[in-house]
Amino acid sequence: MLDPADWERFRADAHRALDDAIDYMRDVRERRVWTPVPDAVKERLSEAMPLDPAPFADVYAEFTQTILPYATGNIHPRWWGWVHGSGTPSGAIADMLAGAMNSNVGGRDHGAVYVEREVIGWFHALFGWPRSASGLLAIGTSAANLAAVLVARTKALGTAVREHGLDPQNARLTGYVSAATHACVRKAFEIAGIGSANLRVLPVDSDHRIDPGELSRAIALDRAQGLRPFFIVGNAGTVDVGAIDPLDALADLAQREQIWFHVDGAFGATAYLSERLRPKLYGIERADSIAFDFHKWLHVPYDAGCVLVRDGEMHRATFASEGPYITRMTRGIAAGEPWFTDYGPDLSRGFRALKVWFTLKEHGARKLASAIEINCDQAQRLAARLQNDPDFELVAGVELQIVCFRPHVAAGLDDATLDRVTDESVIRLQESGVAVISSTTIFGKRAMRVCITNHRTEERDLEVMLEELRRITRGAVAEARG
Ligand SMILES: Cc1ncc(COP(=O)(O)O)c(C=O)c1O
Repeated sequence: MLDPADWERFRADAHRALDDAIDYMRDVRERRVWTPVPDAVKERLSEAMPLDPAPFADVYAEFTQTILPYATGNIHPRWWGWVHGSGTPSGAIADMLAGAMNSNVGGRDHGAVYVEREVIGWFHALFGWPRSASGLLAIGTSAANLAAVLVARTKALGTAVREHGLDPQNARLTGYVSAATHACVRKAFEIAGIGSANLRVLPVDSDHRIDPGELSRAIALDRAQGLRPFFIVGNAGTVDVGAIDPLDALADLAQREQIWFHVDGAFGATAYLSERLRPKLYGIERADSIAFDFHKWLHVPYDAGCVLVRDGEMHRATFASEGPYITRMTRGIAAGEPWFTDYGPDLSRGFRALKVWFTLKEHGARKLASAIEINCDQAQRLAARLQNDPDFELVAGVELQIVCFRPHVAAGLDDATLDRVTDESVIRLQESGVAVISSTTIFGKRAMRVCITNHRTEERDLEVMLEELRRITRGAVAEARG
């Protein structure tokens, strides 16, 4: 009833949409990076639910007019905001093919399940993990970090916590992160019922790294008070500056203290694919769990995150559930144990793994690693240019692909005004359509932040951005001076 009445007509319309999508991706460099959504379009996109059918071609025409021109912009070579991957054409096609298959990858015995297992297995092998390890593709690293917190909670309290929840008797768990850790870990503690007040946030050193000595003292203090330290997070690339915590030292400490060691490697974990960058990340392979994204530095289209858990049994014990309607069989489509639904909160799950599988098959790990290395080199060159710049000064070292800087103090403005100029200049650059960068706070001061997680970026793109930002910032400084 919902299939096309005229398949040949649909074929023609669909081919046109595909051709347009390919042109759209090919010609991205010719367009503005970002265009704000006009009020008229916002209004158009808040209409009542359509009750009557419309031809596919009409719906597609509306999409091209009201949605497509107002994309985020992260497929553009001059997008360096937050940590967004830039996607790939074949990833988009894989997503379309997954849509055509419409597999439900919560479990059962069908091809998509084996693809997700294969993808997870590649990353177990990368980190040298045993076959007993487990993993799950998730929406992103936020969801993956939450899963890791929940598995560690099971390890600390046993599966009884699933039935009885946290009570005053067992709600004495404490976790440890650095101040540079992404806010989603805090959210995970809140969702897991542990409470963010029980997440100790330790100061970072001048390189934005956690100090294992401080961490050890914080754990001892909590133990002395009868609390139960259970979770340490190491960062493999902090969100603000891309710093890498001393992962080996954290692994040693966690082992000594018998505490779960989790690594948030949202983007940095995939740098482990590069032989050149891998030594920076040594220690990640000793983690009890790792959260990371395919949609960031491997450029798989959104969304595609992953959690890996060394102790597959503990992972399963955290999420496994049953019901007569999902009875496992030894044959037929209800066979195929283990089911992914037993490793996460969802029963119905899409075929995210296909676009990851396509990306790795088509490009291979070496080429993907080389794209990561190129971004790191670009960040180093940008930082070198900013070292003696008349308008800007670096405010953090560059470990991977993130460069943070702000208008030079020589601008003669006080800190609060420089903060305002920084934010205003970043916004004006975004509105110019020339490039997108974002802003953050580094040691209490606002900073411009260029995160080069982009396989399309060329050296000239960064030059164009810097000159436009210079022009904009000079204007904002002049305005601030009055
Ligand atoms: C270090 C770090 N952790 C976690 C996240 C959250 O990841 P996601 O946006 O995939 O949920 C990010 C996002 O940028 C991040 O950089």
